[in-house]
Amino acid sequence: MTFEQLYGAPPDVRASAPGRVNLIGEHTDYNGGYVLPTTIPQRTVVELRPRHGGAVRVFSADIGQPPIGYIAGAEVRHGRWIDYVEGITWALTRDGFAVGGADIRIESAVPLGSGLSSSAALEIALLRALREAFALPIDDVQMARLGQRAENEFVGAPVGLMDQMACTLAGDGEALFLDTRSLEWSVVPMPASVELVVVTSGVAHHHAKGDYRTRRAECEEAARRLGVAQLRDLGAGDLDRAMRLPEPLGRRARHVVTEDDRVLAAVAALRAGDAAELGRLFYASHESMRDDYEVSIPEIDLLVELARSVPDVYGARLTGGGFGGAVVMLARPGRGREVAHAIAADYAARTGQRPTVLIPQSAVGGRP
Ligand code: GLA
Repeated sequence: MTFEQLYGAPPDVRASAPGRVNLIGEHTDYNGGYVLPTTIPQRTVVELRPRHGGAVRVFSADIGQPPIGYIAGAEVRHGRWIDYVEGITWALTRDGFAVGGADIRIESAVPLGSGLSSSAALEIALLRALREAFALPIDDVQMARLGQRAENEFVGAPVGLMDQMACTLAGDGEALFLDTRSLEWSVVPMPASVELVVVTSGVAHHHAKGDYRTRRAECEEAARRLGVAQLRDLGAGDLDRAMRLPEPLGRRARHVVTEDDRVLAAVAALRAGDAAELGRLFYASHESMRDDYEVSIPEIDLLVELARSVPDVYGARLTGGGFGGAVVMLARPGRGREVAHAIAADYAARTGQRPTVLIPQSAVGGRP
């Protein structure tokens, strides 16, 4: 249903935000480390019209049920998708921004649970729409922080800041190099020497569930035992000491320390257009996530191994939080589509899963 069919008048505001794919720097953001995500063409679109009073009505074209209502300033957590919307008006109200009632329609081409930040895309698209509709004086970095706060404190998912920063700050064809401690950032153009490929595994993950939280707690425990504020404060010279911690804390720390170094190396390789070096870093990152951080699953490992057997692929790795989701690959320019579909078909035949090739896109409009 269109906005007009739902609410009887056209929207005042239309805003959108993209999903993101992390190139490298996984599970480093909540450790104060470096990340290097880029945006994907698929976006979440929010249409909105302010209403008198505080009543909010929200419709999701992807869920298709009748609009859900709540009162801005009196948000309640339900353990459902609407929490991401209520969390945003909750975070704005808590920071003293005046948000009134609104009719809202959401439509997303970012697949859910695929490690491509459907939640951050929704948060940022909604914040952009609210910022415009209610003339809120917030900048892009504040917006990213509000999205994270909604997710951490309202939805109950203890995520870092990477996704919101990527969705807010990175433009098409740009990677965002972000220091998650200082929040210093710069954009690095994607080089013409590689073509980006993203294939989903068909296995969905859920961040609010325990594994992500457990990894985060393990990192905090490792940092505490090693006497540093965050694992970001460690370097290669600390790894012997870290590996003497009780299992699995040493391996968790080793992933974070080596991954931070790989991000810095990847930024240099990206700037130099060095496809072979980027590919090597991708595989090394995947192995570290699989063996030291233990956030991969057999289906994702299979996708990476299938990629490894294709000469036109430089590198592949699990992207996002893990326990399902998608694989990001770097292919020889012009070869991405063919390579991606061949790998996805082989994977589907071996596992019975239903993978999707998200990049390169096969249809205009971004709907997989
Ligand atoms: C999820 C979180 C991010 C980040 C990644 C892992 O996407 O939202 O903050 O921690 O997992 O790198």
